[in-house]
Amino acid sequence: MRLQGKSALITGSARGIGRAFAEAYAREGATVAIADINLEAAEATAKAIGPAAHAVRLDVTDQASIEAAVKAVEAKTGGLDILINNAALFDLAPIVEISRASYDKLFSVNVAGTLFMLQAAARSMIAAGRGGKIINMASQAGRRGEPLVAVYCATKAAVISLTQSAGLDLIKHRINVNAIAPGVVDGEHWDHVDSLFARYENRPRGEKKRLVGESVPYGRMGKPEDLTGMAVFLASDEAEYIVAQTYNVDGGQWMS
Ligand SMILES: NC(=O)c1ccc[n+]([C@@H]2O[C@H](COP(=O)([O-])OP(=O)(O)OC[C@H]3O[C@@H](n4cnc5c(N)ncnc54)[C@H](O)[C@@H]3O)[C@@H](O)[C@H]2O)c1
Repeated sequence: MRLQGKSALITGSARGIGRAFAEAYAREGATVAIADINLEAAEATAKAIGPAAHAVRLDVTDQASIEAAVKAVEAKTGGLDILINNAALFDLAPIVEISRASYDKLFSVNVAGTLFMLQAAARSMIAAGRGGKIINMASQAGRRGEPLVAVYCATKAAVISLTQSAGLDLIKHRINVNAIAPGVVDGEHWDHVDSLFARYENRPRGEKKRLVGESVPYGRMGKPEDLTGMAVFLASDEAEYIVAQTYNVDGGQWMS
């Protein structure tokens, strides 16, 4: 019960990695807001987790929605101790085909959404005066470019950079800001990625997923549960002296 009595908000936690984080946080004693643009799915996830979870509608591209979500969590639990900035979008295109609309959408959710959610959480934590933990979801895609993935890679590089600046700025308030960089994690997100690669690389569905899994030194794609240990640790008191870092949890992919 390393998060006993803590109040957490996890963006994009109706499914996938965010949902696994919410389940793990509830097991560790936290109260968790399942904050997602898909309220119906968030409610189903909260119900499945049980009384430790509650659903909140949140669109991280909308400032009023961000502020309302933080207020809803404060009203429900008496404060906000932990934020995971997990919501993100993915797209794929060769450089010559990238559209302005795709660029704007990805930067709006992945970068502006991360920054202004982090800002709202930090304001709440500073006002409460008891510090806090903020975890941003980066990616190995933020550490290197990839031919078809320019925009997503750039958004995740920006998340790593924001983690450094916010981490250095907020530690004086005893708010630790750190990030997790997964490699490839199976789930609905990667089903979508696989279908995009199938289109652009003229492959049968499922082939990219299989090849990517085989390329991971550990020998398989990640599962959301592979990331929960790091997410619990970074939110716990044990991570008190860790500031502005991005940790790879990727089965060795970044090293290979
Ligand atoms: N799956 C991977 O292979 C992988 C690898 C590296 C990093 N990541 C990162 O991990 C995080 C979670 O990935 P996932 O695979 O679980 O993704 P996912 O697509 O399965 O889940 C994303 C969730 O975010 C929600 N969302 C989308 N737009 C939103 C908005 N504007 N406001 C609030 N919620 C919104 C969706 O409804 C969904 O529930 C993301 O930041 C992703 O970039 C994933």
